[in-house]
Amino acid sequence: MMENLNCDVLIKNIGQLLTVPSKNGPISNPNRESLGIIENAYISIKNGEIKDIGEGESNIQAKNIIDAEGCIALPGFIDSHTHLIFAGKREKEFSMRVNGKDYMEIMKEGGGIRSTVNSTRLASEDELFNESLKRLNIALSWGTTTCEVKSGYGLSTKDEIKMLEVANMLQKNHEIDVIATFLGAHDIPEEYNGNRKSYIDLVINEMIPEVSERKSARFCDVFCEEGVFNKEESEKVLKEGLKYGLKAKIHVDEFVNIGGCELAESVHAISCDHLLFTKEEGLISMKKAGSIAVLLPGTSLYLMNKKIPPVDKIREQNVPIAIASDFNPGSSPIIAMSVIMSLSCLLYRLTPEEALIGATINAAWALKEERSRGSLESGKLADIVIMDLRNYEEIPYWFAQNRINYVIKRGKIVAGKKGGRLS
Ligand code: NIG
Ligand code: FE
Repeated sequence: MMENLNCDVLIKNIGQLLTVPSKNGPISNPNRESLGIIENAYISIKNGEIKDIGEGESNIQAKNIIDAEGCIALPGFIDSHTHLIFAGKREKEFSMRVNGKDYMEIMKEGGGIRSTVNSTRLASEDELFNESLKRLNIALSWGTTTCEVKSGYGLSTKDEIKMLEVANMLQKNHEIDVIATFLGAHDIPEEYNGNRKSYIDLVINEMIPEVSERKSARFCDVFCEEGVFNKEESEKVLKEGLKYGLKAKIHVDEFVNIGGCELAESVHAISCDHLLFTKEEGLISMKKAGSIAVLLPGTSLYLMNKKIPPVDKIREQNVPIAIASDFNPGSSPIIAMSVIMSLSCLLYRLTPEEALIGATINAAWALKEERSRGSLESGKLADIVIMDLRNYEEIPYWFAQNRINYVIKRGKIVAGKKGGRLS
């Protein structure tokens, strides 16, 4: 026991510990077994990492003890798709949609992404940083401990870099780990109307090299959609990103199927996101590429889409599913991952097990962070949430109730109702 005396934190009396282990890869078609449940468990933490996990009483001596009082504990949520950095709001579009206009109509009328581009261009780095920091605080209070953040509201070299600089400042100044994605191909900016080729050239010849040189993003993403970037353009951008070490992600099949998902194999897509209109060919390509299907039910709710992703086909092809907020000012102002879990069950009929795995370990795979997080295993980061619930099925069941008692990031309590920082 000597080696255990130096433990920093011991979490005891965990009623139900959800370890969600992933041995060889992301999890497709999970069931209850996949959750790696330990009833009446403890976790010891040292230097921000998980040291031991066990069952029953522990005789480990620790400097700090957290009594989970019989509640559930699970990995901190990983939000693998957000547009967290932006200026302005789009509540007018919310009203327009309620009155019958759809997202693409609003976009063609100058709303949508372009309106956020206008306000984001006008905002300073400091303004964007301060607003985004507040949003991260909210995300943290709902248990998010790692968050992907995209650029894509700058659409000029200067403003895309500005957004990515903000992402990197957030990473340095907030407890949540922020992972940046370059999304210069989110839309064609107004000044390139009728001249899309020049904009794509700018993305390829100027933005990608600069983003790579500054090491300011890990992934390159494209909005591959009718009326935005077609399949060939998307492939060109993503392949250029690959040359510069930016791994590929794709916004695809959100409104129409233009075959974008079939790019998964040729660009080795880490994830394909949205997937409302995806067909078998696309899923086969994803399977071959080992891509994760990132489903974004918040967007379906806010866009009042009747369409849902082909979940049964995704299961049949054994493509692993992650779920994410897609947090953005237009199509999904939802930031709480437990709410996203509820929506994935209610709108897409994911099982609570799929939702939980989608918000933790499979989300870690969608960010290539599976080695460090996403499950509770010895050696991984001690990113843990303790929720005032007795059973994991209650997480999606209690819609939009924040039941988080503690958010623990790298072994430190950083948020939660029972709060209080550890020494
Ligand atoms: O993922 N689909 C493209 N991008 C975002 C929407 C961004 C916006 O409307 O500002 C999405 O839904
Ligand atoms: Fe998105």
